[in-house]
Amino acid sequence: MKKAEQLYEGKAKKVFATDDPELVIVSYKDDATALDGLKRGTIAGKGVVNNRMSNFLCSLLEKNGVPTHLVEELNDRETLVKKVSIVPLEVIIRNISAGSFAKRYGVEEGIVFAEPTIEFSYKNDDLHDPLINSYHALALGLATKEEIETIKTLAFKVNDILKEYFLSLGVKLVDFKLEFGRLSDGSIVLADEISPDTCRFWDAETNEKLDKDRFRRDMGGVEDAYNEMMKRVFG
Ligand code: TMP
Ligand code: ASP
Repeated sequence: MKKAEQLYEGKAKKVFATDDPELVIVSYKDDATALDGLKRGTIAGKGVVNNRMSNFLCSLLEKNGVPTHLVEELNDRETLVKKVSIVPLEVIIRNISAGSFAKRYGVEEGIVFAEPTIEFSYKNDDLHDPLINSYHALALGLATKEEIETIKTLAFKVNDILKEYFLSLGVKLVDFKLEFGRLSDGSIVLADEISPDTCRFWDAETNEKLDKDRFRRDMGGVEDAYNEMMKRVFG
């Protein structure tokens, strides 16, 4: 598959056209941002970790009946995926209190929930991705009622599969963010990435952070954390 013109450059990835209008190539960068792009840096090797881990997890999800955009990993940083129109919602699942949940509700991090939670943010940089409920998403025409139901069902299914998988690697899946897209036939698939950029991973024994929070919070050991997650997944 030939890489054609660049269609888009985001904070962590570039997207290129191909000679097939239904397929695009995603290229993962080492660039990292946090706090709405206010904090910038690079995490050496992050693009490789995120590309390979995301593809591995998408394959695992596909095997378990979750449709994803994945077509084929092309090399360490690039993957052929189905072209989607992204539903402008960040879908966040939480198993344990952390981050903005702990801050918003004034609780400590580390409270294990009896049931996972779901929330949506409206993907809109100018508005700083505000929290949104499904009624407001519907009112704004961001997705249909059926799409929102599908997205909720798939997001909890992803959590069931990934929570169990990561626990087998000695990692707690604290929370994560998903994005979904529409294929040309209108069907909903899981898109974007699943990586230490978009998940909180805590070591099951020590609760050591093995994700982008080390960058967000200037904790150091950022590359080591990404490499450790790579080692757990690929051995
Ligand atoms: P939060 O606690 O800051 O709301 O983050 C919840 C999860 O979503 C966490 O695993 C990190 C991920 N996340 C993203 O992937 N992108 C973002 O822009 C934000 C704010 C969070
Ligand atoms: N990626 C987001 C940004 O650049 C935030 C984050 O992941 O914390 O603002």
